[in-house]
Amino acid sequence: AALPIWQGKTITITAGPTREGIDPVRYISNHSSGKMGFALAQVAKQLGAKVNLIAGPVNLATPANVSRVDVVSACEMHKASLDLAKSSDVFIACAAVADYRPDNVATQKIKKDNDVMQITMTKNPDIVKDVAALTANRPFVVGFAAETQDVEQYAKSKMQRKNLDMICANDVSVSGQGFNSDQNALKVYWDDGSKDLPLDNKDALAKHLLSLIHQTYNR
Ligand code: PMT
Repeated sequence: AALPIWQGKTITITAGPTREGIDPVRYISNHSSGKMGFALAQVAKQLGAKVNLIAGPVNLATPANVSRVDVVSACEMHKASLDLAKSSDVFIACAAVADYRPDNVATQKIKKDNDVMQITMTKNPDIVKDVAALTANRPFVVGFAAETQDVEQYAKSKMQRKNLDMICANDVSVSGQGFNSDQNALKVYWDDGSKDLPLDNKDALAKHLLSLIHQTYNR
């Protein structure tokens, strides 16, 4: 059995996509399945942590003894995250949060009367950035970065801009990893180090990542 290296600590993880409503029957979202975040939650529990899992709409079973909060939109995920982050030792932002939401959610189904239709959108709050900006009870903050090019450069600049302690970059342009697959590969960066976690099943990767976070968190 794995050593309970996270015993006595609380880890909060966001997972899955968010959905931003357009009208009662339509929404904008992305291809996140939640598998990576759910694997992290399951392994963190096995390593002894108390685990909160904030999940967007996904079709996955809750890992045993994990406390799950279901949300739909980025704004809902933002609220749940800030509430739970304050009582957490570590916050891991694995969710693929929609960057924008429609300005207005139509109360009735939009009719196809026009050949062109435009949806004006507003930027969503940046959840992981706001958690990292907490002044009291700030947890150790780990972000993810889904990139399709210049992975290292974009990931490092996200880490700086959002004031993260660590960032896990995945190249989502490579097939068989990233969004909705059972495997992934990560390049992990922190202030003065980096580590490659090569292609593996998401649960094996979660084990490596939680041990790496533990080493950095305990310095
Ligand atoms: O769910 P799976 O199918 O298993 O796929 C896993 C994954 C590819 C979704 C996951 O490994 C991953 O990369 N998650 C982050 C996806 C993403 O939205 O990355 P980003 O580069 O757009 O965002 C950077 C970071 O900011 C992320 O930690 C994200 O959670 C966070 N963020 C982004 C926008 C926002 N409004 N609030 C946020 O907290």
